[in-house]
Amino acid sequence: MSSFLHQLPKVELHLHIEGTLEPELMFELARRNEVTLPFDSVEAVRAAYDFEDLQSFLDLYYQGMNVLFTEADFYDLTWAYLTRCQANNVVHTELFFDPQAHLSRGVALSTQLEGITRACQDAEREMGISSAIILSFLRDMTEEHALETYEAALAYREHFIGIGLDSAEVGNPPEKFARVFDRAREDGFHLVAHAGEEGPASYIRSALDTLGVERIDHGIRCLDDEALVETLIARRIPLTVCPLSNVYLKTVPDMTGHPLPAMIERGLCVTINSDDPAYFGGYMNANYEAVQNAFAFSRDTWVLLTRNAIEAAFVTPARREALY
Ligand code: ADE
Ligand code: ZN
Repeated sequence: MSSFLHQLPKVELHLHIEGTLEPELMFELARRNEVTLPFDSVEAVRAAYDFEDLQSFLDLYYQGMNVLFTEADFYDLTWAYLTRCQANNVVHTELFFDPQAHLSRGVALSTQLEGITRACQDAEREMGISSAIILSFLRDMTEEHALETYEAALAYREHFIGIGLDSAEVGNPPEKFARVFDRAREDGFHLVAHAGEEGPASYIRSALDTLGVERIDHGIRCLDDEALVETLIARRIPLTVCPLSNVYLKTVPDMTGHPLPAMIERGLCVTINSDDPAYFGGYMNANYEAVQNAFAFSRDTWVLLTRNAIEAAFVTPARREALY
């Protein structure tokens, strides 16, 4: 079964490129950019990855990305992730980046987007991996800041296909960002949002109703609200679930306590993704293996999960056909 899972062609729809920064590359970039890290070894960095909740992870995640400055840094980060995609047989990936987290450190949007995009283009040409970029707003910042960032990003609109919402969820409900999502919808962008990761099911409802998102990132709290589950099923809204992330951030007690089987059983359009693989114990194959060890799914279930991801991908009809 393990070799079946490794060889299965995969589609990843929930991945933060900054969350792929492995400690080895963090040290290399720190040296290159003359940044002093608050750790004295790669092992010390890994040892610090013992999270209590989402916020304790975010603190280290934002600290880690402080080594990224140049176009080449963003290229190297993205290229390293895409080579992992090849090793995990990921054939299509849609990746988030957090522009505000870099703008606030003085890194221009063009630097961020050009580095990420150039690596994606090289991966398509050299490895046949298709990809797309989603600009994600930090929900613990103001809507005004998101709007300003969105307007600045329009100068590079050919580089990204959609917008999303991430960072500290509780206390920052989706409706806080209604205007920026309205703008992006009018401009023809795809819309997604993290909801129901640590926050309540009502945030998933709000992401659907006030932001009009096409996919929900995480969404594991949806089972708390039966009417919401029925809406998600009827509208076939994909949920980009991240099993190892949920275990590492303690949003579930352990993998065997994850609601994934119940979500599949209900007929929700569930997909499996790695979120921040450098921080959460591994990439797509590691997520598939951890889920398989806990639930011993049949091959049919794995094929269903893969088909869900192909259906949920923001690709052209021709690319979707090729993925099936
Ligand atoms: N940013 C990076 N990973 C995240 C996650 N799992 N939840 C919210 N924001 C994030
Ligand atoms: Zn995420």
